[in-house]
Amino acid sequence: MTISQPTYRPANPAVAPIEEHAVDEPTQLHPLKASLLQKTLSSNLKPLIPNHELVFGKSFSDHMLLTAWDSKYGWHAPEIKPYGPLELEPSSVVFHYAFTCFEGMKAYKDKQGRIRLFRPDMNMKRMNHSAARLALPTFDGNEYIKCLKELLRTDSRWVPDERGYSLYLRPTLMGTEEVLGVRASNEALLFTICSPVGPYFSSGFNAVSLYANVHEVRAWPGGVGDAKLGANYAPTIKPAEEAAKHGCQQVLWLIGENHQLMEVGAMNIFVYWINKQGKPELVTPALNGTILPGVTRDSILSLARSWGEFEVKEGTITMGEISEASDEGRLLEVFGSGTAAIVSPVKHILYLGKDIHVPLDPKNPKSQAGPLTKRFNETIMAIQYGEVPHEWSVVID
Ligand SMILES: Cc1ncc(COP(=O)(O)O)c(C=O)c1O
Repeated sequence: MTISQPTYRPANPAVAPIEEHAVDEPTQLHPLKASLLQKTLSSNLKPLIPNHELVFGKSFSDHMLLTAWDSKYGWHAPEIKPYGPLELEPSSVVFHYAFTCFEGMKAYKDKQGRIRLFRPDMNMKRMNHSAARLALPTFDGNEYIKCLKELLRTDSRWVPDERGYSLYLRPTLMGTEEVLGVRASNEALLFTICSPVGPYFSSGFNAVSLYANVHEVRAWPGGVGDAKLGANYAPTIKPAEEAAKHGCQQVLWLIGENHQLMEVGAMNIFVYWINKQGKPELVTPALNGTILPGVTRDSILSLARSWGEFEVKEGTITMGEISEASDEGRLLEVFGSGTAAIVSPVKHILYLGKDIHVPLDPKNPKSQAGPLTKRFNETIMAIQYGEVPHEWSVVID
């Protein structure tokens, strides 16, 4: 972080009038209100990056959205400002106790040039869940979506207009009080930055190999696996490096003595198999507090249930069952799901020295994804880019 510019402070509270509320009464704290949004435009717009040169999360648009909170006033007026450094004291709690949570969502441009969000209400719901878990302030998600829409109108030229490309939004909330006490932060900063991104797999699908990790766990019962906390991510890097040493691109997270599947890398996991009753079934780990409730996960489950063509189950899947299904030829497809890739097909799972082969498309040996994996990808993408009308796709007027 560059620590060079004036400290970010909330906009003049005069524009977010206290009105009749008493500031020191916790019940009267000011809610986050999009109607108070202020804008300072950048006078130095950056050149756009050609789509084929985009690297995930490396370049940022011209503006950012910032909203400060403190425990006496509540939410101050949201501000759109030129993208730039924040200045925080080294004593800010975020640097010491990981008071930070975030979201990942995307804006898409349709063929008519309109910008669309995909199920933003779900990201707001999850962010408020994460915030509450950190004793950070929550906010009205609908109001924040209005602010995000204005940010997108402001930076509309940064939303790529090619299918597969999008503008990734990174809402982040952090505790900023300058204090070393381990307690709730009396100050917080909610901000969103935007990064133009390309397709996860630039040349079509690229099926990955998973390293089933039997030593470290990503989350545990009573823990915070169901919240999108910054603290959940840094500890995943070393295991990912270990996976890479075994020639695998992703960690398959397991839990329990019977090695139940949890997630794959930073994605939810789906298994499509013929179950023991002989029926085709799509199964994903149930949301039991250890699994991040993915927006893509929910969308896949909902689509699969609406198709009604195979059984759809949220439950427990063990590595023993996967291994057995593979041995018996019942394993059909395995894929990860998440905003970055939509779906990420799996071709191998390395588990306790055994290389479990996962089929891709039996009809096309060259294909890097199974037919069901491809179908989910195509259906969700068509909704995101407004090619088929759907309530999940929210147009920004
Ligand atoms: C740990 C983890 N699991 C699952 C997901 C998928 O969630 P979503 O579909 O909302 O992107 C993500 C990405 O946000 C993640 O970080």
